[in-house]
Amino acid sequence: MTVAVNSMRVAPEWREIGAADVAAVHELHLAATQKVGRPDLIRPESRAFFEKMVSGAGRIVGLFDDEGLLAYGVLQWDLSIEEDPYGPLGLDRSASLAKLAGTSVRPAAWGCGLHSQLIAWRIEAARSLGFRHLYSTSAPGNHRSWTNLIGEGFGICALKEQYGGHLRFLLTRTVDEPVRQARSGEWCAVEAIGRQRQLLGAGHQGVAWRKAKGAHEIFYAPRH
Ligand SMILES: CC(C)(COP(=O)(O)OP(=O)(O)OC[C@H]1O[C@@H](n2cnc3c(N)ncnc32)[C@H](O)[C@@H]1OP(=O)(O)O)[C@@H](O)C(=O)NCCC(=O)NCCS
Repeated sequence: MTVAVNSMRVAPEWREIGAADVAAVHELHLAATQKVGRPDLIRPESRAFFEKMVSGAGRIVGLFDDEGLLAYGVLQWDLSIEEDPYGPLGLDRSASLAKLAGTSVRPAAWGCGLHSQLIAWRIEAARSLGFRHLYSTSAPGNHRSWTNLIGEGFGICALKEQYGGHLRFLLTRTVDEPVRQARSGEWCAVEAIGRQRQLLGAGHQGVAWRKAKGAHEIFYAPRH
């Protein structure tokens, strides 16, 4: 794969993150979060979290170029440290579930489509590990995050307060199938939290997005 970054063409290399790379992952997480400048939109992760992920609780994929770590994405399957996802996802506790648990791209490389590739890589990793269901959380205000998740076949199935009272979408898909698209439904402004809660409560899910007059809207359609 070749990615244009700052008009220079580089050929980054994908590889799994090991213990020796954890400091670079944490550093990139801090740098990307700082660049966004909205701590309420991104869950702050400790270095210990990433250490846990490479020590059996999950897996991290990294993309490296000649300047170091360019991007990473976490696939987490030890969900014991998470707020219970099974109820909001409508899944039994025995369901085979993994989480796309955080990703960052070096700010100089934003807009190159790396996030979508990190999502796709983790769907494939989950498939090869035998997981059936996936989920992720994303702040409604972090549209760069949830638009790419929807683009890779995730649907919004819940809206709840998490991580110390911050509003988050819960997005899910099965490993094998992206969420089904539908023609009948309703476009809803992402800021219209109350209406989205009503639609989700009535059995709808958010399956598509668009930008209308500069604002982000989500298409909610019946689940079945
Ligand atoms: C969210 C994130 C992973 C997206 O990664 P990405 O690979 O840049 O994603 P995309 O290539 O799809 O581009 C996303 C956005 O960057 C914008 N962009 C493009 N070039 C840019 C640049 N030079 N500077 C800033 N933004 C730029 C794109 O226009 C797009 O924004 P839009 O949706 O408003 O049009 C990245 O922005 C990031 O690391 N953010 C901080 C951490 C975070 O929020 N993680 C997700 C939650 S855990």
